[in-house]
Amino acid sequence: MLGPGNGPVQIPEDAIRRRVAELGAAIAQDYQGRTPHLICVLNGAFIFMADLVRAIPLPLTLDFIAISSYGNAFKSSGEVELLKDLRLPIHGRDVIVVEDIVDTGLTLAYLLDYLEARKPASVRVAALLSKPQRRQVEVPIHYLGFEIEDAYVYGYGLDRAQFDRNLPFITSIRPEEE
Ligand code: IMP
Ligand code: MG
Repeated sequence: MLGPGNGPVQIPEDAIRRRVAELGAAIAQDYQGRTPHLICVLNGAFIFMADLVRAIPLPLTLDFIAISSYGNAFKSSGEVELLKDLRLPIHGRDVIVVEDIVDTGLTLAYLLDYLEARKPASVRVAALLSKPQRRQVEVPIHYLGFEIEDAYVYGYGLDRAQFDRNLPFITSIRPEEE
């Protein structure tokens, strides 16, 4: 447990709650009359997923996939490994990928290819955070919580060396501390 950092990105609990409610309402509006299938990208998105699905007043199904691109290091390696596959078929489904953060975009690009190969009816992306300055490949984000500057962030499901996922807010360390 390292606790809150004094980096530039600090997003309090109530700001997250409000934004997640807005994202849920936007999704509910866009998917009216349909049954979206939400895919949570473990581990980082588990809290965002739990809050987001409760903010979508529609019939929906969900599943989990685990992908690793980071290991324990703070820098993206560019290598993506499938750690846990989907349980449910996505053929013909309206899929919404639920990600914690889009950094270089490499993980999401890999995942979108992987999903498209299984012929869903549609695929959209909901990401809590995005660091546009760090992007290496362009990826679509249809529902974005917060655009943030380039700092290592953690809390609200995101880890710092596997700890602090249970912080109810998002905090960061200064780049020179990484
Ligand atoms: P990307 O492939 O570089 O876009 O990285 C995506 C994954 O790396 C995210 O889904 C996170 O799991 C992890 N990641 C990237 N930046 C951060 C960060 O600032 N804090 C915690 N995890 C991060
Ligand atoms: Mg992730």
